[in-house]
Amino acid sequence: MSTLLIWFVFMSLNILLKTGHCTRIRDEILSITPKTEEQVDILKNVSTEYKVDNETVLWQPASAEYIREEMQVHLFVPANSSGTVKDLLKKHHITHEVLLDNANELIELQMRNASTDPRSSSTFYERYHSLEDIYDWINRTAQDNPRTVKAILIGSSYEKRPLYVLKLSFNDRPNKTAMWIDCGIHAREWIAPAFCLWFVHYSLSFYGQNTDITHILNSMDVYILPVLNPDGYKYTWTGERMWRKNRSISKATNCFGVDLNRNFDANWCTKGASHNPCSEIYCGEFPESEPESQAVADFLRRHKDTVQLYVSIHSYSQMLLFPYSCTLEEAENHSDLLEMAQEAAQNIRRYYRNTYRYGAGAATIYLAPGGSDDWAYNLGIKYSFTFELQDRGNKGFLLPPSHIAGACNEALLGVKIIALKVIEKT
Ligand code: ARG
Ligand code: ZN
Repeated sequence: MSTLLIWFVFMSLNILLKTGHCTRIRDEILSITPKTEEQVDILKNVSTEYKVDNETVLWQPASAEYIREEMQVHLFVPANSSGTVKDLLKKHHITHEVLLDNANELIELQMRNASTDPRSSSTFYERYHSLEDIYDWINRTAQDNPRTVKAILIGSSYEKRPLYVLKLSFNDRPNKTAMWIDCGIHAREWIAPAFCLWFVHYSLSFYGQNTDITHILNSMDVYILPVLNPDGYKYTWTGERMWRKNRSISKATNCFGVDLNRNFDANWCTKGASHNPCSEIYCGEFPESEPESQAVADFLRRHKDTVQLYVSIHSYSQMLLFPYSCTLEEAENHSDLLEMAQEAAQNIRRYYRNTYRYGAGAATIYLAPGGSDDWAYNLGIKYSFTFELQDRGNKGFLLPPSHIAGACNEALLGVKIIALKVIEKT
């Protein structure tokens, strides 16, 4: 009798395994393009209501409010809600494509390294780094290059972490202009801080070797803020990988975080931002309510007479955006900006065979007021760009370390072309 029972259990287990009922369901990223108003509403619901442990996360667009017909939506679906979400989509005849089903492995791959993992053979700049490592790198870089690099403390974050800007200055020509680059305003966009490190390393290595960077650094000082949102960045390494905002707490709701790229004084908190502290695009209590955005704005106000070019690095989607994002109106020098973005994109395509879309922010993606680029533009920095680096959603925020070099090199080419144009024009 008992042998029979054991046999029965064994056979059923076997059948279960063979039919795949026991294969582990994994976290997935789905790509969905809603075709009707109804499907838009369903998707909005799925991405907000179906959170399990607050885990279902919209990768693209940044917030459900932006979802429209025919827009490609990228949704992170944790393994345990995969069934529910897929059933729901099926019920409403919404088709989906699985972009990625190995999120956990990719996360592990991104964190591997990080400082001195012997398994990793790639160089320092082809890996992602923890916040602590980036602080060490900032110190070391300034110490090792006392004549050309200075670390400037411009303020501190909500959780009181220092905000350091590196100033690259290769000569003291009179009337030198400057450019600004910030990275990591959104915490989960790890390729952004990696780009800032890449840019500094490239400048220090190729000044005097590469004509373009030499010309740029002879004409301009460069201010680089490698991690604009250190609290958020830290939290993506230790808490939630997909965190976007900073980490200030709203007492009224107990929700964390202000979207720092909605916290600047450019049509602040109009359509495309939210007053709800729990939203991914929460604009904060008032413009520059956050210490991070205030520190950046204060620094740029103090240096607005020299800074001619503002660049902000984000990911993902491969785009090159310029003002305005906070209104559908055209910027006064729209045709200049368009021409510069176009030339950058054309060169990226030519040399790296990669496509960057470009245009004014509001017209190209969506209305997004309170952004740093529009604010800097209105301050008088007439050349202001936001780069969205690789990729187009295939790996999204989980871009593997092996892609860092490619992503950074093509964006670097874009920055160089734009900087050369600015020098030519001013
Ligand atoms: N994806 C970025 C965001 O939503 C785009 C930034 C473009 N610039 C802007 N001012 N919104 O923040
Ligand atoms: Zn971003």
